[in-house]
Amino acid sequence: MSEQLEKLVQQVQEGAKYRFIHKDLIENIARNELTKGRSWKATVKAVRNKLHQVGGAYQPLGIDYEQLHSELKSLPHDMHTPEAKRFFVQTMGLHASTRERLQILDQFFYETLASLAPIDSILDVACGLNPLALAWMPLSESVEISVCDIYTDQMDFLNAYFEHFHINGKAYSCDLTQQFPSEKAQVGFVLKTIPCLEQIDKSIGSKIIQNLLCENLLVSFPSQSLTGKQKGMRQFYSEHFQSLLKGTNWKTTTFSYQNEQAFLIQK
Ligand SMILES: C[S@@+](CC[C@H](N)C(=O)[O-])C[C@H]1O[C@@H](n2cnc3c(N)ncnc32)[C@H](O)[C@@H]1O
Repeated sequence: MSEQLEKLVQQVQEGAKYRFIHKDLIENIARNELTKGRSWKATVKAVRNKLHQVGGAYQPLGIDYEQLHSELKSLPHDMHTPEAKRFFVQTMGLHASTRERLQILDQFFYETLASLAPIDSILDVACGLNPLALAWMPLSESVEISVCDIYTDQMDFLNAYFEHFHINGKAYSCDLTQQFPSEKAQVGFVLKTIPCLEQIDKSIGSKIIQNLLCENLLVSFPSQSLTGKQKGMRQFYSEHFQSLLKGTNWKTTTFSYQNEQAFLIQK
């Protein structure tokens, strides 16, 4: 890494909101912003803006993981107990993406995964806090789970959650714009993630669908923006999704919900 790039990454990481973001993503965005010939101050700001768009915007109030770790410790070890489920709902409410799914949580995974149930293995990429929805999924007893996202503190919390509830899971930080996970799984979740990643790499949608080593993929798109506007998003993303599948003959099934449009791909 050049000295200038190293300095830029370090300066971006000095902001509390960026400290726990996977370094490879910061470096990738910083490298690109450095080519634009802006002032140093404007370059630092541009890198932080991009990181906000792809990550921070979903958690506008920040997430106090220290508090969550201590609440987690006081819960029973069975994820289906009312106390545990209350904690999951409350915590998923801290991330905009899972918050939007709360009102359809009782149906979403049971309906979209019905034809594959019980699920033996899951790979959830750019997962946010979605792994906290496992108690609402049709899983086999020995299900194996791998999840990743850009926030290291979020992944530490999810590992503590897996351990507490004796779930055979692992969480790790990743940058999907540079590397795809290599785990095989019965089903991969790519939930509301493609539009977010396309802000960094316009061609990532078809690459992610082609390259994840999963027999089935549950891919979804938001049908309204973070501010609640609908703006024809359902139609726009349905057409976009079809364009990503061009040249394949995979079976796809569509599931429509008020906030989200999901597609099950059976490869
Ligand atoms: C719209 S949210 C979806 C979260 C989750 N899949 C869900 O549906 O609840 C987009 C997620 O992508 C993550 N993300 C953004 N850029 C990423 C990257 N380059 N690699 C991995 N994850 C990324 C964000 O941190 C955020 O959690």
